[in-house]
Amino acid sequence: MGQYIINGGRKLSGEVFINGSKNAALPILSAALINSGENIIHNCPDITDVSLTLEILKDLGCEISREGKTVIVNSKNAEYCGICQDTAGKMRSSILFMGVMLGKWGRSEICRPGGCSIGRRPIDIHLDAMKELGAKIEENDDSICCTAETLTGTSIYLPVASVGATENIMLAAVFAKGRTVIHNAAREPEVVALQDYLKSIGVQVKGAGGQVIFIEGCSKFNDGEYSVIPDRIEAGTFMAAAAMTKGKIFLKNTNWLHMCKTVEIFSNCGCEIKAEKGGIYFKSPRKIKPASVIRTGVYPNFPTDMQPIVMSMLTIAKGTSIIIETMFENRFNHVSELNKMGAKITAQNRVAIVEGVRKLNGASVSATDLRAGAALIAAALGAKGETVVQNSHFVERGYENIDGSLAALGADIKFSPEINV
Ligand code: EPU
Repeated sequence: MGQYIINGGRKLSGEVFINGSKNAALPILSAALINSGENIIHNCPDITDVSLTLEILKDLGCEISREGKTVIVNSKNAEYCGICQDTAGKMRSSILFMGVMLGKWGRSEICRPGGCSIGRRPIDIHLDAMKELGAKIEENDDSICCTAETLTGTSIYLPVASVGATENIMLAAVFAKGRTVIHNAAREPEVVALQDYLKSIGVQVKGAGGQVIFIEGCSKFNDGEYSVIPDRIEAGTFMAAAAMTKGKIFLKNTNWLHMCKTVEIFSNCGCEIKAEKGGIYFKSPRKIKPASVIRTGVYPNFPTDMQPIVMSMLTIAKGTSIIIETMFENRFNHVSELNKMGAKITAQNRVAIVEGVRKLNGASVSATDLRAGAALIAAALGAKGETVVQNSHFVERGYENIDGSLAALGADIKFSPEINV
């Protein structure tokens, strides 16, 4: 709980280590329940969403330990219990326990998932898929209860290539009788990461990264060991921060291949980006060029999680950019805050028009969700004067020690554990 106090205008330079991906770590930690054994997860980010997930695993009887960036989850003595409001209500990805608990124990009761308010975020696709695997669902205002005596593998066609639904189905299908085939699966690198982890515990699964995933039901599993892939959104956040400050940085532990569309957009805006041994070299242009039209979409298209952050950079581009948000209906919360800093953005429904201004000015602003918070930090680093970014707890959900990493790159940023609005 707290706020970031940032004095803008310092050029970022030097090296930054990119942490393990939040959105890869969360489903893999849920999957640690599968093998009733030891799971060694390397490069696991130390962020609030991971801590909440580890709390859920503890409540379920797992033994947890962390040494540096490695988390060990032993699920040998795990026992069924429902997932309560205290944890589920704080995090959307608590829903990822549904499939694995249903498969392992024949039931799952989860309080309605909370998380960032970036849109309606329904879970109908998850529930329909569980039904297709043989589950009965009872819902009330507070919780969702799934039960099944057995799950049976089947072909499931997703109406939308939902990341969470794809992962939930994979986690349940591990315990189903026979083969499950997911059509129109999400193709995100985080889905491939889950497949790689499942393989490491002996599950036969293939196809992730493409539109069809095949999972064979299984009853014997190995202990698991896996290293979480780098966070492509964290890498993009540091790129935007460097661009805002006319900086030049090296991003260590980054996967260029996971960031193609983001790299293309930064390049079109005039940034120099090179894949080098051990990471990515990034240099800002003297003046950022506008982006004609950027449209968010499912992977490999431009990620919605980068949208607020890239918008921040475009506020000081030389010209007008258009951004279309196709994934979530409420993901322009950062617009009014950026405008408080002197940006000229008009947003209506899912379209934002960003007219570049010469400079942003420091102001008191509030993060309304995780990526909005990251966008405001990037903006503040490039702004003239002092900015206070309130509601740091949103940022802490997905960024490990962002203030420390930015300070090490030369930013004037301090965390103050005070007011939260
Ligand atoms: N959707 C439905 N019904 C469902 C599920 C999804 O209509 O049952 C719709 C959503 O409303 C949305 C679209 O499908 O319009 C895609 O949502 P998806 O299910 O793919 O999102 P998610 O799994 O809830 C993950 C990430 C998000 C990221 C989205 C999109 C995790 C833990 N979260 O969410 O990450 O924005 O995919 O890429 O993996 C973030 O990190 O800041 C974040 C919000």
